[in-house]
Amino acid sequence: MKDILDRLDARRGEARLGGGQKRIDAQHGRGKLTARERIELLLDKGSFEELDMFVEHRSADFGMEKQKIPGDGVVTGWGTINGRTVYLFSKDFTVFGGSLSEAHAQKIVKVQDMAMKARCPVIGLFDAGGARIQEGVAALGGYGEVFKRNVIASGVVPQISVIMGPCAGGDVYSPAMTDFIFMVRDTSYMFVTGPDVVKTVTNEVVTAEELGGASVHTAKSGVADGSFENDVECLLQMRRLVDFLPSNNEAGPPTWPSLDEADRIDESLDTLIPDNPNKPYDIKELIVKVADEGDFFEISQAFAKNIVTGFGRIAGATVGFVANQPMVLAGVLDSDASRKAARFVRFCDAFNIPIVTFVDVPGFLPGTDQEYGGLIKHGAKLLFAYSQCTVPLVTVITRKAFGGAYDVMASKHIGADMNYAWPTAQIAVMGAKGAVEIIFRGGTAEEIAAQTKQYEDRFLSPFVAAERGYIDDVIMPHATRKRIARALAMLKNKHVEVPRKKHDNLPV
Ligand code: HXC
Repeated sequence: MKDILDRLDARRGEARLGGGQKRIDAQHGRGKLTARERIELLLDKGSFEELDMFVEHRSADFGMEKQKIPGDGVVTGWGTINGRTVYLFSKDFTVFGGSLSEAHAQKIVKVQDMAMKARCPVIGLFDAGGARIQEGVAALGGYGEVFKRNVIASGVVPQISVIMGPCAGGDVYSPAMTDFIFMVRDTSYMFVTGPDVVKTVTNEVVTAEELGGASVHTAKSGVADGSFENDVECLLQMRRLVDFLPSNNEAGPPTWPSLDEADRIDESLDTLIPDNPNKPYDIKELIVKVADEGDFFEISQAFAKNIVTGFGRIAGATVGFVANQPMVLAGVLDSDASRKAARFVRFCDAFNIPIVTFVDVPGFLPGTDQEYGGLIKHGAKLLFAYSQCTVPLVTVITRKAFGGAYDVMASKHIGADMNYAWPTAQIAVMGAKGAVEIIFRGGTAEEIAAQTKQYEDRFLSPFVAAERGYIDDVIMPHATRKRIARALAMLKNKHVEVPRKKHDNLPV
């Protein structure tokens, strides 16, 4: 009997060694943790239950029959994060560069299927070179199975992808179909094809960092939702993110005990808006002052900074914050800001997370650059996303709400439940100068000045909208948290019937 137990121990030991000590040392040498070390950090201590530790590939081409490593390049299983179950897979770069074989794919598929049955989030830790070249179509087929399940799970359980090494091919396409992608700075890359292939095909010489490093994908392409300094920080932040997320589309937002009173007032908000209407202020100050304990997990912080998106809590329960940022491009809506916010709004709606929107927007960004880039379609994404929401929507206009952007930013007309304005709000088709120059074209300087004054007095206030009931109340800035908390409590059981259809046709 002892022999048998020892044999199990030996086989487990062999599997735990992955591609061998030399490759583990190389992994550490690059500043990366191993697949198993990452799991230890991500999950609650001792909670990991591993599956399929002894699975091996079945390939016999290119001498592969002589190179079998138990686990086949991916560690899979489930565990808990602050007591809540998650399923996960962690790619082992020390085994064939974490590349995906048919057997490796089946391990991931098993985890995806189990997560769907148990209705729990799936987290993928990626450090892998895509389809295993030696397996050909068997590997491509494996990816197809994974992709299909990514899509079926979308909107049912949260899916998070963490990029922790060089990732190519299927190891970027599968993440692209999940809800969130996070990267580690300086050690992780994402590209459909790597620098060598780029050089062969286009003659372009580019480094991995320039082609698909964290700064590229968090700030330029918007493919990734955030990046962190190293593996440890990244995994600890993923634990924090999971605490904000519902387990599935029926569970509702998780709640955590909070010592922050829901009716807390904050006098400093009464002076947040500068006297000069064209002077910027930081909208994140408002978010942080409204959220429980100032805890705000920002999504896509470095991309389209003119809009801010992220998770916080009010009265202990998760809410999504969307806010124009006057500090960047005066908070204007452009293509990138529209698609960033649209994607966030759709995530929140899919998982029943109420949305709080802070509005200070001078309109959509004019110009050929934006129009040629499809601003009409991208702006429509955000309009569509908000209009489609059935979750509680609470909107607060702090200053400008001009033109189409007024309608788009969770206005009453497209389905918001409670629409508040601060006394500093200005709700109009456009700013006074532009408006008067159009409707009094050719007027003398005195006439223009007089008309501008009249326009400002009449329209650049919240009261015209409030008189029509488009704004439910004009509120004191210091009472913002209290009013939002009360509105969300009132809307707790919000239920909206939508007409039966197969699915909508979002302007993608
Ligand atoms: C088999 C692979 C592999 C792969 C890496 N390795 N990628 N083995 N199949 N796809 C192995 C290497 O042979 C090496 O083995 C080890 O992993 C480490 O790789 P290195 O190249 O030494 O590491 P590095 O220099 O850090 O470069 C990492 C990399 C590069 C950028 C990922 O390996 C690379 O470009 N790989 C190919 C990427 C790719 O084109 N994949 C196919 C994508 S198609 P040893 O034994 O030396 O340790 C795809 C289709 C899906 O995925 C469908 C999409 C829609």
